[in-house]
Amino acid sequence: MVAPASVSKQLFSVTLRVWRQAGPTQPGQFVDYPAANVSPDMSFLECLDVVNDGLTVANDEPIAFAHDCREGICGTCSCTINGKPHGPGHGIATCQLYMRTFKDGDIIVVEPFRARAFPLIKDLVTDRSAFDKIQQAGGFISVRTGAAPDANSIPVPKEDADLAMDAATCIGCGACVAACKNASAMLFVAAKVSHLGLLPQGQPERDRRVLAMVQTMDEAGFGNCTNQYECSAVCPKLIPHDFIARMNRDYVKALFKSQFQPVSASTGGGA
Ligand code: SF4
Ligand code: FES
Repeated sequence: MVAPASVSKQLFSVTLRVWRQAGPTQPGQFVDYPAANVSPDMSFLECLDVVNDGLTVANDEPIAFAHDCREGICGTCSCTINGKPHGPGHGIATCQLYMRTFKDGDIIVVEPFRARAFPLIKDLVTDRSAFDKIQQAGGFISVRTGAAPDANSIPVPKEDADLAMDAATCIGCGACVAACKNASAMLFVAAKVSHLGLLPQGQPERDRRVLAMVQTMDEAGFGNCTNQYECSAVCPKLIPHDFIARMNRDYVKALFKSQFQPVSASTGGGA
């Protein structure tokens, strides 16, 4: 009898070298956890689950890590694996990384995203609410909801619609910040600014949006872009760094205009 393909695959062993830190003010350190009988078809988070099951049974504190959708949508599963945000894959989030990426005997180093604006909460979990504040500053359009107009009533050029969609794929994971030597959030903010700035519905608040979001980004303690483009190299949605130049152009134009006429105040988000 021929074994099913999934059973015939070779199980292997790795060591997870994980950053453990009980809290923001506690000292942290790397701790090694052996993981045996790892299937190449396991996701990386499932491997962490199995290690945590063992820790729980042994009455040890499980490794704290963030996750939600486990399918590359929510942007929650942020950690750095072998020195790269979201690990060695390309165009994927941590939850989409499979253990077949590694080989028997590998030591896999897992640590939280490290950036001043993302303070550590515990182990691999960081506080990325700075992104929420930037979004709340302008990442919306102020319209009455509940009576959506026909989708075809406002024509949008195909090229603009495609670009807006590219920008809208940002899942707010923060990998761009973690990869940048300056901990710059410009790829994230550029994606959010451009997504709405490319669409007709985003025009009335375009100037106010870019000014408010950039100001909030600066206040949150993110660094500046120095054109290294590590951000787009690790972005799970492969958002191109061209959006940063687009945001800079929008910002300069809005700043110039604001010298001559006051930029309209926010009327609140989407209510
Ligand atoms: S731009 Fe890419 S890396 Fe940055 S938050 Fe958005 S999805 Fe994540
Ligand atoms: S858990 Fe949602 S993107 Fe990874």
